[in-house]
Amino acid sequence: EIKKFVASIGITLDRFISQRQQEFPYAKGELSQILRDIGLAAKVVNKAIMGSGLIGIEGPAGERNVQGEEQQKLDVVANMRFIRALTKGQEVCAIISEEDEEMIDTGNHEAKYIVAMDPLDGSSNIDANVPIGTIFSIYRRKSPVGTPPTTEDVLQKGANQVAGGYVLYGSSMILTYTTGYGVNGFTYDHTIGEFILSYPNMKIKELGSIFSYNEGNYNDFSEGTKAYLTYCRNQKYTARYIGSLVADFHRNLLKGGIFFYPATSKSPNGKLRLLYECNSLAFVIEQAGGKATDGKRRILDIEPHDIHQRSPLIIGSSAMVDDVMQFIKNEQ
Ligand code: AHG
Ligand code: MN
Ligand code: MN
Ligand code: MN
Repeated sequence: EIKKFVASIGITLDRFISQRQQEFPYAKGELSQILRDIGLAAKVVNKAIMGSGLIGIEGPAGERNVQGEEQQKLDVVANMRFIRALTKGQEVCAIISEEDEEMIDTGNHEAKYIVAMDPLDGSSNIDANVPIGTIFSIYRRKSPVGTPPTTEDVLQKGANQVAGGYVLYGSSMILTYTTGYGVNGFTYDHTIGEFILSYPNMKIKELGSIFSYNEGNYNDFSEGTKAYLTYCRNQKYTARYIGSLVADFHRNLLKGGIFFYPATSKSPNGKLRLLYECNSLAFVIEQAGGKATDGKRRILDIEPHDIHQRSPLIIGSSAMVDDVMQFIKNEQ
């Protein structure tokens, strides 16, 4: 009976990672350790989010982060939890975070990897109980093992990622990532405290019928972008905008669709950050058969010059991204 019961449970994240060891031959378990560290921190952050209304960590922390954004208490809590888990896991020598101005040297100078992360995305939505997320990218360091990490370790283009993904803290907690061999989603099972494979080998529809953008920025958009939005309306597509990037992204990955955050007068280079929002999701979407551009270039090809640089983002079903690019090209 027990054997049958255990067999009926989907495979756990740990077992999945160890079964897929052969995917990253040089990793000998380090990369798996980092994914485990991320899974552990996500469980702790999820607990904090579920209880935030009760334990007084809702609302603003009274500080502003390097982005000039009002930090939410949970931004700070999540940042500290991920930094601690990745540092203790000892496989990461440097971390860049949306919440820290400078690169964080974890002290693990023997470690071969770096992590770029947005510890809590969509944090302005926390008090409204809207789903929020964590977004991450993992790279191999460039500088020699045994030395302190350098900025060239963290200023790598997205195409160099060895892993990328996100956690969605919603009606359930889902961890989705890719190591370049497809995209797999895991749902957290509270009864056994494990992430269970729930979305094996995720693929996005080539053509979806959901378009997702902040209508309030419409007047700032280019003629080509406006023309594409009119096209979507004429096609009777569904408009959906949660305003929480991971939630908007995950919905489109599951159902097909396109999300975009173009340059606006308020954010002339786009609002979303290249290294720990655009690149991570661009890696996932391409592995799921979709596309991600900044309106001109493939996101993963952009050579970063600053750890917090922003980029316009158009991401989702490949035929829809191609359409937008066509409309933008026609305007030139
Ligand atoms: P963060 O909470 O990490 O600062 O990111 C918020 C982002 C992203 O979640 C969302 O897509 C976007 O902000 C929404 O921006 P607007 O409110 O300008 O539409
Ligand atoms: Mn923020
Ligand atoms: Mn964010
Ligand atoms: Mn954030």
